Amino acid sequence: MTGRHSDRAAATPILELEGVNKSFGAVHVLKDVSLRVFAGEVMALVGDNGAGKSTLVKTIAGLHGVDSGDIRFDGKPAHLAGPRGASELGIEVVYQDLSLCENLDIVENMFLGREKRTRAGLLDEHAMEGMAAETLASLSVRTVTSLRQPVASLSGGQRQTVAIAKAVLWNNKIVVLDEPTAALGVAQTEQVLALVRRLAERGLGVLLISHNISDVLAVADRISVLYLGRRAAELQASATSQQHVIHLMTTGQHLVASTMENRS
Ligand SMILES: Nc1ncnc2c1ncn2[C@@H]1O[C@H](COP(=O)(O)OP(=O)(O)OP(=O)(O)O)[C@@H](O)[C@H]1O
Ligand SMILES: [Mg+2]
Repeated sequence: MTGRHSDRAAATPILELEGVNKSFGAVHVLKDVSLRVFAGEVMALVGDNGAGKSTLVKTIAGLHGVDSGDIRFDGKPAHLAGPRGASELGIEVVYQDLSLCENLDIVENMFLGREKRTRAGLLDEHAMEGMAAETLASLSVRTVTSLRQPVASLSGGQRQTVAIAKAVLWNNKIVVLDEPTAALGVAQTEQVLALVRRLAERGLGVLLISHNISDVLAVADRISVLYLGRRAAELQASATSQQHVIHLMTTGQHLVASTMENRS
């Protein structure tokens, strides 16, 4: 663990936000927010309803411009002209419901808008199926039986798996997951969390947005807490507790006991 942290101190973050401000009219939603995500880690972003998490995700995805502050990708200023700009940089955002088309099958979804074609210009179904199968296998996904199943027939957990595999297929460097387990049962949640861990092990940076603090403590390396649009704390997951994180989310303050510990 110690070795990993000192490596990290020297490394360039894959994604870095510095002093980001964003208002909607008179409502100042993001206030001087800074956040760094490194390759090979799961960074969790937590906060109460309305804290600004989705707004932050949308600025990273290129859906909202920022009023001030910097977003850097791999150390370089990111010019995020819309969602396509973000995906060209290697940033993939997986939303709970919006990422996939229900009426298309798994392969069609994974290649939507980026289809492989044969020299004759026909869809290269064979190549696409092979790549989709390989990607799912490389992530040890065994719950999907047929790649030609329409997404409408998949469970919530399987859909999430397909959306994440799609991000991996396109060699993304950072995957942003907005509440990936919100609608899932216990077993499916475990599968998705295991997959989140595997993404980090493959060297991707993962930004995980979640309300579920036990999920977050199970998979995250670090936790960033947003409180009313401001970063209240950044924590090592291994050095905090559920109670402390919830206290930070709801008050913006550290627990008194841990403040005492920090002083000693
Ligand atoms: N397009 C918009 N126009 C005006 N206000 C907005 C807009 N989008 C978000 N807000 C406001 O910004 C604040 C933060 O909203 P955001 O959706 O980012 O919170 P959140 O942390 O994702 O909350 P939740 O946990 O409920 O999803 C809220 O007060 C919300 O009303
Ligand atoms: Mg939200």
